[in-house]
Amino acid sequence: MTDTDQIKHVASPLARQTLLDDDLTRPVAGGRPIRLLPWVQVVKIGGRSIMDRGHEAILPLVDELRTLLPEHRLLILTGAGVRARHLYSVGLDLGLPVGSLAPLAANEAGQNGHMLAYLLAPEGVSYIEHPTIANQLAIHLTAARAVVGSAFPPYHHHEFPISRIPLHRADAGAFLLADALGAAGLTIVEDVDGVYTSDPHGAEGKQAQLLRETSVAELAKLQGTLPFDRALLDVMANARHIERVQLVNGLVRGRLTAALRGQHVGSIIHTGARPI
Ligand SMILES: Nc1ncnc2c1ncn2[C@@H]1O[C@H](COP(=O)(O)OP(=O)(O)O)[C@@H](O)[C@H]1O
Ligand SMILES: [Mg+2]
Repeated sequence: MTDTDQIKHVASPLARQTLLDDDLTRPVAGGRPIRLLPWVQVVKIGGRSIMDRGHEAILPLVDELRTLLPEHRLLILTGAGVRARHLYSVGLDLGLPVGSLAPLAANEAGQNGHMLAYLLAPEGVSYIEHPTIANQLAIHLTAARAVVGSAFPPYHHHEFPISRIPLHRADAGAFLLADALGAAGLTIVEDVDGVYTSDPHGAEGKQAQLLRETSVAELAKLQGTLPFDRALLDVMANARHIERVQLVNGLVRGRLTAALRGQHVGSIIHTGARPI
């Protein structure tokens, strides 16, 4: 038998099965994946709620992040804000498909990340691109206590055409990364104390109640708006590692620090991941 023949006969437990049949793939593919970076804390900074507010919101948060560095190793991910919204309206007016709008909006998340990284540069923090996050995060986080990246997931031209606005935005992107890394946690930083039953800044804001502890299933039943992309509910429901996400108010000093220390200072959302 030649070498080539042997290669053709490599034994694989999935070789004879359709990959679409869950019952057949489960014994092989049903296990929990390993945690790649169990010590990294992922922090997602809102584009509209934090970055668009400029120095009044950003500088105190940068200060807080700076003091967190000796305690935690951080992957800081930034979202898109008002510039992406403007881009959507111009792009939609021109009839551009969602696959063209997604990478353009992702640019803004990257711009916000670059700005944050410049402010943290004296601490050895730099901005790294998606391919570097995918391939060299470990070495970067060994050389520095934190790095900054874009939270926007690179679906780009492959974005699902379910809606004209990209479905997978910064919150879904940050969660997908945190879960894939098996990170120690994900904290979402916004300009509200947590998730409410309805928009606390909306017309009916006075009736909005803070959900201090909630779950994906409970949030899926809420009819109104959420402070994160709805796609996040789907990815949280199917999480493998991240069992809970905390959403905190980044305009209140100390909340992010407390959240990373495991304190309950915002809304805790329980995902579909189960402890083993
Ligand atoms: N159910 C809700 N609970 C809390 N905030 C909400 C809710 N629905 C809408 N919001 C609004 O979402 C805003 C945050 O906007 P968002 O678009 O998520 O910003 P970012 O781009 O920073 O993620 C909050 O200031 C709040 O007014
Ligand atoms: Mg948000």
